Amino acid sequence: MLVAASGLRDLGKREDGRRYLGPGGDGSLSVRVPPPGDNQTDRDEAVPVRHGAPSSATSCAPAGACETAHVQRIAVLVSGAGSNLAALLGAGAETLGGRVVLVLSDRDGAGALTLATRAGVPTAVVRPADHDDRPGWDAAVLSAVEAAAADLVVLAGFARILGPAFPARFPTLNVHPSLLPAFPGAHAVSDALAWGVRLTGCTVHFVDAQVDHGPVVAQEAVAVEPGDTAERLHARIKTVEHRLLPACVALACAGRLWVDGRHVKVLPP
Ligand code: GRF
Repeated sequence: MLVAASGLRDLGKREDGRRYLGPGGDGSLSVRVPPPGDNQTDRDEAVPVRHGAPSSATSCAPAGACETAHVQRIAVLVSGAGSNLAALLGAGAETLGGRVVLVLSDRDGAGALTLATRAGVPTAVVRPADHDDRPGWDAAVLSAVEAAAADLVVLAGFARILGPAFPARFPTLNVHPSLLPAFPGAHAVSDALAWGVRLTGCTVHFVDAQVDHGPVVAQEAVAVEPGDTAERLHARIKTVEHRLLPACVALACAGRLWVDGRHVKVLPP
């Protein structure tokens, strides 16, 4: 569902029968999520989805108005408390047009893992310390997500940088607590406060080979208030993230995001 218009390189058909596209020679992002209903595998679950309106899966009467469609399989990578994961789980598979099939963390004890377990979602922990080197850890993360047969990956507070093979293999969304390209990195909220900006916000973007850099799907501003601390400001930013991220994931699952170089177009339903 998601195809870059430029620089497309065919990575060939994989064992799941799907064809994957990867970065062009110019480094442009070119990825594809199979659209709902496209080239299903027998692992996929089919659920009733109203024609043209995947978010209305619960109300597909009258008879004949329904069709079965693929529910995208979403892997969520986390390191922290997991409030964005909670927002995705709270939105539900019907609204997202996708189901969270794996929550993977780089560390034991992330609050997000507890949330996932309570919601009955399989979890995995892939610790860097358990691998000889960075490529070994990258490969372990990649293979855990491949084993979950994910269509889409969401970084929801994942505190590590993934190797370039990852976004080439999986369409990957990240949520970041600033208006990128301002304040990339791990201290976006305190950096914005220290700079004295009046407005900051959050960004949902596709992940590419550089940190906090890929094509922007959506952004929303949050005003800095007098006397703000990083904690207060971050809490208000997260409130917006919890709305923006599920909305972007739903667009991705519905096949409505088209990446053309740095630009993401939202296709009509
Ligand atoms: C969010 O602010 C997100 O933008 C950033 O990490 C934070 C994760 O928070 N990448 P949570 O674990 O989802 O509560």
